[in-house]
Amino acid sequence: MVRVWKRLWEQSGYTQLAQVPVSLTVDYPQVRHTQAVLRMALATAEIAHLVHDTIIRRDILVAGALLMDVSKLVEYQPGLEGGHHRTELGLMLPHGTYTAHLCLTENIPLDVIHIVMAHSPNGGRAPATVEAHILDWLDQLDLTNFGYDLWKRRVLHYQP
Ligand SMILES: [Fe+2]
Repeated sequence: MVRVWKRLWEQSGYTQLAQVPVSLTVDYPQVRHTQAVLRMALATAEIAHLVHDTIIRRDILVAGALLMDVSKLVEYQPGLEGGHHRTELGLMLPHGTYTAHLCLTENIPLDVIHIVMAHSPNGGRAPATVEAHILDWLDQLDLTNFGYDLWKRRVLHYQP
């Protein structure tokens, strides 16, 4: 996992990790978002076990939380006059694809790579494990923690 991070950092256009944004429309440090998602995921796993006796694979959960967005290091780059834009890789490949490729070369378990590809609508796969579901929800939930809400809800029980 550390090797994947190192390989992506070496290819990144950023010079400080704190510069990497959550997205082009959410200019907030990705690294803080990742820290929050990881902590919430561990708390969720503890509660799920305590209350429901659900077994959450914490090694898969932690690795997924730390890897699912690391491709932003190479999908975005700092703009010459401030701001950020997509790199050619970020324009050409769905979010997370390059991380998934590196993970395969580093023998990262498929359950972790599944999280990388399933946590975003751009990845093309719906979450299929409890760990992937937890991280998919928490990734969105944490955006609310710093003032954003990107999900469009289409549910029937809301009042108009
Ligand atoms: Fe992501």
